[in-house]
Amino acid sequence: MKVWLIAGGAGYIGGHVVKSMHDAGEGVIVVDDLSTGSRDNVPEGVPFVQESILNGEALRKVFQEYEVEGVINMVARTQVGESFTRPLDYYQQNVEGFRVLLAAMRQAGVRNLIYSSSASVYGAPDVDLVTEDLPCHPMSPYGQSKLIGEWLGEAAHTAFDMSVVNLRYFNVAGAVTPAMADKRVLNLVPMVFEKLTHGRAPVIFGGDYDTPDGTCIRDFIHVADIASAHLAAARHLRAHDDAVLRTYNVGRGEGVSVRALISMICEVSGLSIPPVVADRRPGDPVKVVADARPIQRDLGWKAQHSVFDMVASAWEGWCAQHPQARAVQRQV
Ligand SMILES: NC(=O)c1ccc[n+]([C@@H]2O[C@H](COP(=O)([O-])OP(=O)(O)OC[C@H]3O[C@@H](n4cnc5c(N)ncnc54)[C@H](O)[C@@H]3O)[C@@H](O)[C@H]2O)c1
Repeated sequence: MKVWLIAGGAGYIGGHVVKSMHDAGEGVIVVDDLSTGSRDNVPEGVPFVQESILNGEALRKVFQEYEVEGVINMVARTQVGESFTRPLDYYQQNVEGFRVLLAAMRQAGVRNLIYSSSASVYGAPDVDLVTEDLPCHPMSPYGQSKLIGEWLGEAAHTAFDMSVVNLRYFNVAGAVTPAMADKRVLNLVPMVFEKLTHGRAPVIFGGDYDTPDGTCIRDFIHVADIASAHLAAARHLRAHDDAVLRTYNVGRGEGVSVRALISMICEVSGLSIPPVVADRRPGDPVKVVADARPIQRDLGWKAQHSVFDMVASAWEGWCAQHPQARAVQRQV
């Protein structure tokens, strides 16, 4: 059976992509060094190889052992803040790792690639809806490394006739099962959960932006929708023999303000502490919302989950990991 090799498939988003493709009957195998991922994120019955994509020899063996139809590269160091203090580590994993993976793909004659990119490649776009043709000005070593990844894929497309789909995810949260929830406290949703669970007020950075409620606007998307975009991309690549190079935003195409999201979190969790407004954070763009029409037009993909579903599923995951959250919830 032909398989998709999912590099980084034991991670938070990777685990959801693997499950979605496996459940849909696609053959998948996972290569992951478990540096930030967990073996538990890989469903039973999916072959798992614990290796770094920096190990070209190990990759060559995997390509020899399996009939690989395409590769989904989800490997990355992902923390924007940390990327400023450990930029070389970020370039090594996100750029050099990808280069080694591409070299192994080329040697094995594997031509289909789906690459996990990010809205962070845009930087701080001053537009109502972010379209894929906007100039990219990433503002962190992390964002730069993701953009270089897109360039590497483009170069492989041009030089080796590879078919490449770059998926630029917007603000991802939620989980398909509580056990698959993101364990890190890196983005707004878990940050607010953490505050509320400890009886503290959530913080809004900047309440005087030129938006209806004065707070920044983002495009939040359920991780299950991110996962289904990969399935759509894989099937699109299978259906096209000619080498393609495509880049798509993966968002809901609708903005939610930070204040509105915090209200929703309070509603879902039953824990309500009015947020406090702190100074703006330097570099925070006012509004980043995807134009999600191209991916719908070309791949037939559209987000199916509401932001409320996303928050509710993230809360279930949070409670599974933090039993005291349920206890606090029962007290109010
Ligand atoms: N989480 C988000 O909101 C978000 C937004 C936009 C883009 N992305 C992109 O999505 C992808 C997945 O992110 P995530 O949030 O699931 O992070 P994650 O840390 O949970 O997943 C990354 C996975 O890659 C593995 N890995 C790291 N270095 C490796 C190496 N050298 N060889 C093999 N495996 C290695 C890790 O063990 C982990 O399982 C990343 O490429 C990230 O840049 C994430």
